[in-house]
Amino acid sequence: MTTTTRAWQFHETGGPEKLELIDHELPPPGPGEALVRFEAIGLNRADLLELAGLYFGPPPSPSFLGQEASGVITELGPAIEGEAPAGGYEPAVGDRVGLMVGRIDHRGMGTYRTAAVFPQKTLLPVPEALSADEGAGFFLATLTAVAGLNVGHLTPASADGARVLVTAASSGVGVVTLQAARAMGAVTIAATTAAAKAERLSDLADHVVVAPTPNDLVEGVAAATGGAGVDLAFDPVGFDYAEALMQTAAQDGHVVVYGLLSGMEAPLDLRTMIFKDLGLHGFTVHRIQRDRELLDEVVGTTLSLAERGGLRPIIADRYAFEDAPKALEAMARNQHFGKIVLEVNE
Ligand SMILES: NC(=O)c1ccc[n+]([C@@H]2O[C@H](COP(=O)([O-])OP(=O)(O)OC[C@H]3O[C@@H](n4cnc5c(N)ncnc54)[C@H](OP(=O)(O)O)[C@@H]3O)[C@@H](O)[C@H]2O)c1
Repeated sequence: MTTTTRAWQFHETGGPEKLELIDHELPPPGPGEALVRFEAIGLNRADLLELAGLYFGPPPSPSFLGQEASGVITELGPAIEGEAPAGGYEPAVGDRVGLMVGRIDHRGMGTYRTAAVFPQKTLLPVPEALSADEGAGFFLATLTAVAGLNVGHLTPASADGARVLVTAASSGVGVVTLQAARAMGAVTIAATTAAAKAERLSDLADHVVVAPTPNDLVEGVAAATGGAGVDLAFDPVGFDYAEALMQTAAQDGHVVVYGLLSGMEAPLDLRTMIFKDLGLHGFTVHRIQRDRELLDEVVGTTLSLAERGGLRPIIADRYAFEDAPKALEAMARNQHFGKIVLEVNE
């Protein structure tokens, strides 16, 4: 039997005004698939980029949107033998699940909808302590955080006392990166462009640097570390902060760049990189799909940090599902702290 879902779709690229709400028929789940009824949907900066046609090339027309949600499995198709689930999870009807980043076709079955049919291997169990809203904002940001720290040589085994700088600290990813690094034992430094967010960040980090300019970042990190610099800088801002990031790094430190919030090109003085023996890393969370060992390690670390209370998304704002364009406009204004979610009430 088919299921009717309501879904946000767009025919041409642009801003949130391009989205239209339609009815979309879902087939019953086939072999290796599951029908999931959504309770909440997580927004990501990538959704704005995709809508603008700036994320992995121009999307087809029409196209759906969204990579994150939490919901309850209501129907399972027959399992496919030999298909290894991520982190050993075996889906069951009634489970509350979230989505493994990079495994869904968001253009064909984006999560801005009320229900979806997904491959079972895309599903992960939402940690019991989390609400539906928190579950909707959990996996994409936390897997990005834990895998990105790992690329920068920060793991539970190596983190004790390491100094970690997180820029765009109030972003959905920034907040959980601070939590993850702290839970692993690192000394954390949160950098934000917004002075108004400093007080809330001081609950999450050992030091807060308000850095509306690259020079503020360099000076603030030097003050926070007594001039020693950081062992790892984790950054989605790029562009004119890139050189400053290298200056914040300690000798033999690592800089992981995972976003381009302020622009794609960066003027760099390569002497800083050479004289400090820095590791400069580009990172996308899609790496975990190419490396099975890393995937299982990162999923295991993420779920175990969450179970111990060390990882919990901060929900910035909740919007009704029908107000998705308004929620995206709010995200573009950058006033939020943590994750924006849509709630589904049907
Ligand atoms: N590589 C990957 O695999 C991966 C995965 C997930 C996300 N990302 C990237 O990570 C970034 C954050 O994603 P998100 O969903 O967490 O975003 P978000 O919650 O929308 O983050 C917004 C925050 O980023 C900071 N920011 C925005 N524009 C800026 C600018 N021009 N200059 C400096 N700071 C700026 C501001 O933080 P403050 O007010 O605190 O400064 C702002 O509140 C995005 O670039 C996204 O594409 C990458």
